Amino acid sequence: MTIFEAYNSTKKKLEAAGVKDFVFEAKQIIMHITGFTPTQILTDYNKPLTEFQENNLVAIVHQREVHYPLQYIFGNWDFYGRNFKVGVGVLIPRADTETVVEAALEQVKDINAPKILDLCAGSGCIGITLDLEKSDSEVTLLEKYDEALRYAKENIELNKSKAVALKGDIFEKPQFEDESFDLIVSNPPYISEEEMKYCSPEVKFEPETALFAQDDGLEFYKAIIENYTSILKENGSFCFEVGFKQAEKVANLLKANGFNVKIKNDLNGIGRCVLGTKDNGGN
Ligand SMILES: C[S@@+](CC[C@H](N)C(=O)[O-])C[C@H]1O[C@@H](n2cnc3c(N)ncnc32)[C@H](O)[C@@H]1O
Repeated sequence: MTIFEAYNSTKKKLEAAGVKDFVFEAKQIIMHITGFTPTQILTDYNKPLTEFQENNLVAIVHQREVHYPLQYIFGNWDFYGRNFKVGVGVLIPRADTETVVEAALEQVKDINAPKILDLCAGSGCIGITLDLEKSDSEVTLLEKYDEALRYAKENIELNKSKAVALKGDIFEKPQFEDESFDLIVSNPPYISEEEMKYCSPEVKFEPETALFAQDDGLEFYKAIIENYTSILKENGSFCFEVGFKQAEKVANLLKANGFNVKIKNDLNGIGRCVLGTKDNGGN
């Protein structure tokens, strides 16, 4: 089977299985099994696959036919131009989350050596990216579950970040001193019971503990605001990723707790990030 034939048959099988981005994925899979760049695939399209490559292709297509996530099959995924290890037990970094990184970087750009805390860190994609993009920052990641924490630590090493990953539960009393952070960023679990029904089949392979939240998806925001406001410095800010239709609700929670609030939209024009800055009486 040539590369060209393999690409076409993969595309067809993925489409038949209901994989949404079957064209993109077929190309990614061929690149993965051959180790070729997009240009090499175009120039060497007539080259036959080795037996090992063909067997690998069959195995990958079978996994995608049952909607096992491509990112878990590859074992890594790109976020903000860097590579992050992923696998069972950790949430796959989403492109939407880059909106939160942009907003967080904007928030700390004029602060000298900002102290940043990433709550519910998962793979560490947010905190590690902030550490590397704002190199004078001091970033701490907090994650409750061991499997996810292991990935955060591996990704710190992989990306040569100086961020520190700690185990902790946001529902418990914080392990940090009062007024010690300039920015607390978080992409917590926020999918409500109602929204579960609309999740893609791939999401069912990701840890429920990374996805779902009680109280109409708001329980983590409420707990973080309650437990972590005192940990923010005088002019410190929260920077939250929020789910579809949650921006106003989270903005209202922050306003009710005395924060000045801004909502940032993602590339689809959906409110994706809510920033709340401590209101210190206009000083
Ligand atoms: C939506 S994922 C976000 C992961 C990562 N920050 C990202 O943007 O890809 C939420 C993360 O919160 C973690 N988590 C769930 N409950 C937690 C808790 N009570 N305290 C701390 N982390 C928690 C999950 O394990 C998961 O890694």
